[in-house]
Amino acid sequence: MFAARRALTGVAQSRAFSASARDLSKVTVLGAAGGIGQPLSLLLKLNPRVTDLALYDIRLAPGVAADISHINTKSKVTGYDPTPSGLAAALKGAEIVLIPAGVPRKPGMTRDDLFNTNASIVRDLAKAAAESAPDANILVISNPVNSTVPIVAEIFKARGVYNPKRLFGVTTLDVVRASRFVSEIKNTDPKDENITVVGGHSGVTIVPLFSQSSHPDLVGNAELLNRVQFGGDEVVKAKDGAGSATLSMAMAGARFAESLLRAAQGEKGVVEPTFVDSPLYKDQGVEFFASKVELGPNGVEKIHEIGKVTGEEQKLLDAAIADLKKNIEKGVAFVAQNP
Ligand code: NAI
Repeated sequence: MFAARRALTGVAQSRAFSASARDLSKVTVLGAAGGIGQPLSLLLKLNPRVTDLALYDIRLAPGVAADISHINTKSKVTGYDPTPSGLAAALKGAEIVLIPAGVPRKPGMTRDDLFNTNASIVRDLAKAAAESAPDANILVISNPVNSTVPIVAEIFKARGVYNPKRLFGVTTLDVVRASRFVSEIKNTDPKDENITVVGGHSGVTIVPLFSQSSHPDLVGNAELLNRVQFGGDEVVKAKDGAGSATLSMAMAGARFAESLLRAAQGEKGVVEPTFVDSPLYKDQGVEFFASKVELGPNGVEKIHEIGKVTGEEQKLLDAAIADLKKNIEKGVAFVAQNP
């Protein structure tokens, strides 16, 4: 036995060891009883890479957990009470923390209109995460993402536990929408449409780069651009006061979590667009930017360059950068004034 072990190379040995350690993946959802939280939790329960699913909300999390726990997949599901100790226990040992807690839009509202309510919700949850899960990957879904991600960063920085490689604003839905909308125009299968969407996650900060897709002719298609940038409004309007995208968002959030878990478990070349602490436009005062990011066991592995864009796309990028700068500053200022 000993001899056989010694026969393993160092690399094989560490792989065998780390693979089993990494296969234990606790995923926590904060805001698990909401419109996004419930279907997101359901999709995570169906993911065999998740071994421990922790659900927290200020209401109903134990109920949602009891319901989901009857699904016959292997993972253990626990719902936590809305107390500081419940929140701490939900977070302890988490590899991934998804945050869809907060209020959604009503017709006529922009994502920025949510700032006043959601900023403090995200700040308080970030404080708990910095305390109980400082090494977790934090996936922020709560809007306005352009401001809530900087809020989490500031809270982690103040406590000396900020790791820019482990903080993500979830912009996957913009890419999911773009590929779907393009496929409707081109009569193709959306899974084959790989549309790069960069910038941020609201209105003009959402910048699709059709010149880099297999349909460069779509650059300048104003109707399509508007649909990608303001697609969320279609859902808000159709739900008529009852909220914003929840089911498609749950799918997008679950896809992003799955990508992170695949990368953590050693898969190479896992690339997702996401809003991260990024060097791309820091010289213009923009600390966070969404672009294609290669994921790895340490979170962000490599931030891709924007690449070649057309003059028209450059104008869209310029508009995005101006707005993003303000959105990011707003988040930073909020924490400075309301620590
Ligand atoms: P919802 O109102 O249905 O659910 C929010 C949940 O958060 C509720 O169950 C509520 O009890 C819970 N919550 C509130 N304060 C909390 C706290 N302090 N701790 C834990 N849980 C708390 O809203 P919905 O539709 O699920 O949307 C959630 C957020 O996601 C909104 O801010 C919305 O704008 C955003 N969103 C983001 C998208 C993206 O692409 N990143 C897409 C769609 C929505």
